[in-house]
Amino acid sequence: MRASRFVVPVVVLLVAACGARATGGQVKPPDNALVGVTMPTTTSPRWISDGENIKRDLESRGHRVDLQYAQNDVPNQVKQIESQIAAGAKLLIVASVDGSALTKPLQMAADAGIPVIAYDRLLRGSPNVDYYATFENFRVGIYQAESLLTGLGLRNADGSPGSVKEPVNVELFAGSSDDNNSVFFFNGAMSVLKPYIDDGRLVVRSGQVDFQSVTTQRWDGETARKRLEEILAASYRGKKINGVLSPYDGISLGILTALRNNGYGPAFPVVTGQDAELPSVKSIIAGEQYSTIYKDTRELATATASMAEAVLKDRTPPQLNNLNDYNNGVKVVPAFLLNPVSVDKSNYHKVLVESGYYTDDQLR
Ligand code: GAL
Repeated sequence: MRASRFVVPVVVLLVAACGARATGGQVKPPDNALVGVTMPTTTSPRWISDGENIKRDLESRGHRVDLQYAQNDVPNQVKQIESQIAAGAKLLIVASVDGSALTKPLQMAADAGIPVIAYDRLLRGSPNVDYYATFENFRVGIYQAESLLTGLGLRNADGSPGSVKEPVNVELFAGSSDDNNSVFFFNGAMSVLKPYIDDGRLVVRSGQVDFQSVTTQRWDGETARKRLEEILAASYRGKKINGVLSPYDGISLGILTALRNNGYGPAFPVVTGQDAELPSVKSIIAGEQYSTIYKDTRELATATASMAEAVLKDRTPPQLNNLNDYNNGVKVVPAFLLNPVSVDKSNYHKVLVESGYYTDDQLR
């Protein structure tokens, strides 16, 4: 009895640890390896297509994929990863709900010899993250801020000073504080906006300008709607708000609802966004949301699948192009970064339709 309880876990661990790894100096490509993919939520269209694209890509390479969505619940995501490990996954791809909350399952993965790729969101506080695939997140923030300034008339599209000279009122929103990306987006945006706030060209009437006071837990649009309505009630009596820095389309829609509830529209303040989600692209075409940032998640999925393939074959992914910027608090995680594209009414057709991301029909 004692012996069998001891033997079984050791065998399981050995099998898991050997998996796709080199044996006797020879690298064995894994056939039909099980890859565990965990995504944060299905409430946002982007994560649904991210998950489906990764699954399709890996399956076309002959692997099996267990794709799970955590519905923004951390214990749920922990359980999903643990069961993928128990099921014999040879590699994990994780887009976290809370980037710092997975240290235990990541340790379990490491103990079983299972490599981990952080997908879009960095996994923090753990040595057990092998690679990271994402976009130039700081640049996303720069593009959001530049688009806000352009929409406000403070800057022309070519970067030259715009015609507006009088101060304009803006409010700032950041993403979820437990998502490492939020800091990058906000810092990127503030690298552009801070000089304008400092010299009074931009006025933040709420006074809320530091990261902690502007975050939006779980990127939730409803939370953003409530915060903006409170700000409008407290700081905008008899005053107009001209623009809102929004880090993500789901938040932008909440912001537009708050504005509508406060009598704005059909002309709206300048509201930015990110992800080029369908409802927001339609809103841009209708002249409501001003802009978004397009991140081709098809490319991210393909790149991640080929990184996964390399890792399963015990090779270093050849795509890596950033070995410095993504320190997760324990180590610098080697990363592959893709480029984002700023999108507004002037270029949505070229960027989103001509690239095949959306069809004209979808945008009607
Ligand atoms: C971030 C991601 C953004 C956006 C946001 C909310 O981590 O980089 O593109 O999707 O989450 O889902």
